Amino acid sequence: LIKTGNAIFSLLVNQLQEAFSNVGVANPIDLPQITVVGSQSSGKSSVLENIVGKDFLPRGSGIVTRRPLCLQLVNKPVIEGQSIPEEYGEFLHLPGKKFTDFEEIRAEIEKETDRTTSSRVGLSPDPIYLKITSPNVLTLTLVDLPGITKVPTGDQPKNIEQLIKDMIIKFISKPNAIILAVTPSNADIANSDGLKLAREIDPEGLRTIGVMTKVDLMDPGTDLIDILSGRIIPLRMGYVPVVNRGQRDIDNKKKISSALEAEKNFFENHPAYRSKAQYCGTPFLAQKLNTILMHHIRTTLPEIKAKISSMLLKYSQELTALGDPMGLDESGMQANMVLNVITEFTSEYRTIISGTANDIS
Ligand code: GDP
Ligand code: NA
Ligand code: MG
Repeated sequence: LIKTGNAIFSLLVNQLQEAFSNVGVANPIDLPQITVVGSQSSGKSSVLENIVGKDFLPRGSGIVTRRPLCLQLVNKPVIEGQSIPEEYGEFLHLPGKKFTDFEEIRAEIEKETDRTTSSRVGLSPDPIYLKITSPNVLTLTLVDLPGITKVPTGDQPKNIEQLIKDMIIKFISKPNAIILAVTPSNADIANSDGLKLAREIDPEGLRTIGVMTKVDLMDPGTDLIDILSGRIIPLRMGYVPVVNRGQRDIDNKKKISSALEAEKNFFENHPAYRSKAQYCGTPFLAQKLNTILMHHIRTTLPEIKAKISSMLLKYSQELTALGDPMGLDESGMQANMVLNVITEFTSEYRTIISGTANDIS
């Protein structure tokens, strides 16, 4: 079915975001940023690419991600009777330019990384902002960060580990940041840099999700069951095991769609995971993140609505004081529009959640 509850939700979120930008204020829905944290080569970029369903991140050995990448995914739902929405990316530093070729997105990330860093290995805490609009993504905001590395190479500063940690801590310290602690399954979880850093900032594990990569590379006869059950390191939001493409798959240009298919088969046929296969893999992770986002928006809306109402009241009082016979000025009208969108959003959302809408798949 085309018009699912999710599609309606995405439309409303887009409408809200558009309405807010019309009012000329920064989006007051401080969306939770989902921040990817882990050691170098733990699989962070692979996880992000699988969530987006596209190859677009720079790859290679050494520190490839040298600036934070803030990735805003916007779902443009397919609507019955209309043409399929285009899939494209836009960079904040290149306003008005639409990238429909994801190879060009990759090249632009590399170019922009080099532009603000002093050398091929230099780091910068200054984020690159990329927005991807597509019918194939869920609406999410993700941040890719440099991987934790211990040993400086080339002309990298001696304190590289601390520099990277400081950069990560700045992002994950925001109270509404969700930490995706990426940990390779073929190494001891006790040594996971991602989980260690997450625990420093979120000691009770309230806003950390453990993403276990490379499940396919575990020694035969071993599995993640103890970890996934939370018996080793408990996390309120739990763990999700995933299988990304290995280096050989990437060299052979294996498509992400076939990688996701292989991931599904892996979990459905593995004796340790097949009974819980629906809680494993990238699609489950993306859905989990989207649910967290929806929940956040729903719980923040009443507060935003109150703020806008009082802003509107103030406007009209000022205008009355000025003796404006026309009532609201343009910004007042736009604030009014935002209120209408929020009201519509809240009631539609309730309908979706209570499952009474007849167009939910
Ligand atoms: P990052 O440095 O954390 O961004 O890691 P990448 O995503 O670039 O991955 C590093 C290497 O590990 C690449 O060669 C990937 O192909 C490989 N890799 C990542 N995830 C998996 C996985 O789940 N299984 C296998 N076999 N290889 C993986
Ligand atoms: Na790690
Ligand atoms: Mg990376």
